[in-house]
Amino acid sequence: MAATNQDEQQTTTQALRHQEVGHKSLLQSDELYQYILETSVYPREPESMKELREITANHPWNIMTTSADEGQFLNMLLKLINAKNTMEIGVYTGYSLLATALALPEDGKILAMDINKENYELGLPVIQKAGVAHKIEFREGPAMPVLDQMVEDKTFHGSYDFIFVDADKDNYINYHKRLIDLVKIGGVIGYDNTLWNGSVVAPADAPMRKYVRYYRDFVIELNKALAADPRIEICQLPVGDGITLCRRVS
Ligand SMILES: C[S@@+](CC[C@H](N)C(=O)[O-])C[C@H]1O[C@@H](n2cnc3c(N)ncnc32)[C@H](O)[C@@H]1O
Repeated sequence: MAATNQDEQQTTTQALRHQEVGHKSLLQSDELYQYILETSVYPREPESMKELREITANHPWNIMTTSADEGQFLNMLLKLINAKNTMEIGVYTGYSLLATALALPEDGKILAMDINKENYELGLPVIQKAGVAHKIEFREGPAMPVLDQMVEDKTFHGSYDFIFVDADKDNYINYHKRLIDLVKIGGVIGYDNTLWNGSVVAPADAPMRKYVRYYRDFVIELNKALAADPRIEICQLPVGDGITLCRRVS
């Protein structure tokens, strides 16, 4: 009985946490997360990213957006690795895309793919105003066939400095099979949501939202596969909903 009450309480807490847009932190205390946002993230967030974050907050699917602290992390990471040629799978309104575009040099490139163009177009005016839209090639449609073409056409092999994967989690392993050929040796693939709302450690019979339960097993399998893949070095970070960085080594 006590365990059930505890589970219910946990579910309610999670639900409350997710009411705040972009609040995807797995930190134990909301206050601590708020401290990070208010002390280190919001004061340094570029005006354009703030504007896009606020536009996204009014969208019904705002739960999908990359959180502001993760946006800051991606922006920093891309600068640290001097990324120039990048790819993003899963754009939504473009918060992580804008974080990427702002980090790349003037002649940097992002191949951005999403099945939904309408949401991208919500954020596009902000991206244009920020003066970075010329770095983006947006392709509407599922990413997999595009990746298949690029793998077949060997000219794209080893050509990407950074690839951010943030769409259909049930396909991450299939993406990985292709992306490992497309990222250069020394380049990085970032898989988002690899802690999947903390559900990766929840007992199988724990109460979970339907979509969390559906994708959970795929995420757990992905994490095992990445940890066992000798072609990459990995680093699992508890930023946002968990991001696993994979540096290709062979
Ligand atoms: C979590 S959201 C991406 C969030 C985004 N990175 C951001 O910063 O706001 C996932 C996106 O993946 C897109 N998506 C779903 N299946 C896809 C597929 N097969 N290929 C490309 N995009 C897909 C959805 O339309 C959705 O916009």
